[in-house]
Amino acid sequence: MKNEYVTFTKTIIGGIIMNMVDLIIKKRQGKHLSKQEIEYFVKGYTKGDIPDYQVSALLMAIYFRGLDQEETANLTIAMVESGHRMNLDMIPGVKVDKHSTGGVGDTTTLILAPLVASCGVPIMKMSGRGLGFTGGTVDKLQSIPGFNPFLSINKAVENVQKMGLALIGQTENMVPADKKLYALRDVTGTVEQLSLIASSIMSKKIAAGAEGIVLDVKVGSGAFMETTDKAIQLAKEMVNIGNRVGRKTVALVTDMNEPLGMAIGNALEVEEAIQVLCGKVEGPIKEVSLVLGSYMLYVGGYVNNIEEGKAQLAQNISNRKGLQKLAELIYAQGGNDKVVEDLSLLPQAKDVIPVFAKDTGYIQSMKAQEIGRSSMLLGAGRRTMKSEVDPAVGIVMKKRVGDYVMAGELIAEFHVNKKDQLKEALFIFDEAICIGSGKPSQKSYIYDVITE
Ligand code: URA
Ligand code: CA
Repeated sequence: MKNEYVTFTKTIIGGIIMNMVDLIIKKRQGKHLSKQEIEYFVKGYTKGDIPDYQVSALLMAIYFRGLDQEETANLTIAMVESGHRMNLDMIPGVKVDKHSTGGVGDTTTLILAPLVASCGVPIMKMSGRGLGFTGGTVDKLQSIPGFNPFLSINKAVENVQKMGLALIGQTENMVPADKKLYALRDVTGTVEQLSLIASSIMSKKIAAGAEGIVLDVKVGSGAFMETTDKAIQLAKEMVNIGNRVGRKTVALVTDMNEPLGMAIGNALEVEEAIQVLCGKVEGPIKEVSLVLGSYMLYVGGYVNNIEEGKAQLAQNISNRKGLQKLAELIYAQGGNDKVVEDLSLLPQAKDVIPVFAKDTGYIQSMKAQEIGRSSMLLGAGRRTMKSEVDPAVGIVMKKRVGDYVMAGELIAEFHVNKKDQLKEALFIFDEAICIGSGKPSQKSYIYDVITE
């Protein structure tokens, strides 16, 4: 039987005849796809030569059969090659990037980028916007009066050359294959496949140009990965890809069962980052930042071990070099750098509403995702990519998991402008906090470090 689709997608690459149906069947049977075959479908799909329905079928076959390490690396490289690759050669020194899979109250980039840059590491970092219950660095930066995260690439590179740091939004033409494939996965039930997730994340990091990459894979109720096993597997897949393409890559697997910091909101998280850089805030947000930062120094070859890295970072908190670098960054991108000395210059919400504990006992758990959702309802996050965020609003936690509280004791503050969804936000928040009698055991915030 003649099949028009088979004819439609038949292409000759390097003397080999490729057609999409063969690839789908091959993967359906659990066989290995060659580098040429992977390049063929990524290129063909990005150009619009291969239709959605065939790529959907292939993705579903991949979902059930998986990709081996070589296929995963080849998929990543093919996606990187679908678009513009950042060239950072003009910047002297080993460039280091970091990426978090996303969480709640997770403002490590705002702390780390200036702190690590203040140790002499050039950092050119691209970040995204927040969606749903998770925040995004671009939104946090835009809460700083005047700050422009949308510099041209040339201007950003120039800033890194001058002062060692630029934080910008994701550019449009980076990894178009991932954009198309991710959108298709989203509507075909094929998002949750570890090799596809790993190649999607790593393609963007590799295209962004840094030689060293530190990944923060979040696990828990407020994260994309809900179990430690899955998070470790994802971390291994990403480290494998990075190392295969010549980027020194390390992944930390860290806790996201409760918000990492105490602030959930945009200006509120900027405020917390400034407080950490001033040495005024301790706790897990600082602890996790120092470890991530030490690995950034380590993968870049700036220190010999993690302890040395931690000591350098701690020093640049106490001598305020990290804070000074943040001020320089804000100034270089058009913002009011006085905010680092005067937090009242950040946008402030009209009302601060106290929220009280409903029971007496130890806080057993908090559902980070629900707290993120509650903050989103106050206006700090977006329900869809088109929603607007209010930079001033959000939640400031006053207690953490393991703390003892009395019924009626202050547990959080809601920073509020519009009250139309306040009731729902409070309801979701209350449901997220679980108070019980036994003291929960002290937990660690860093579960694992994957280096190969
Ligand atoms: N984030 C990404 O960028 N890609 C995925 O596939 C999943 C999460
Ligand atoms: Ca304030």
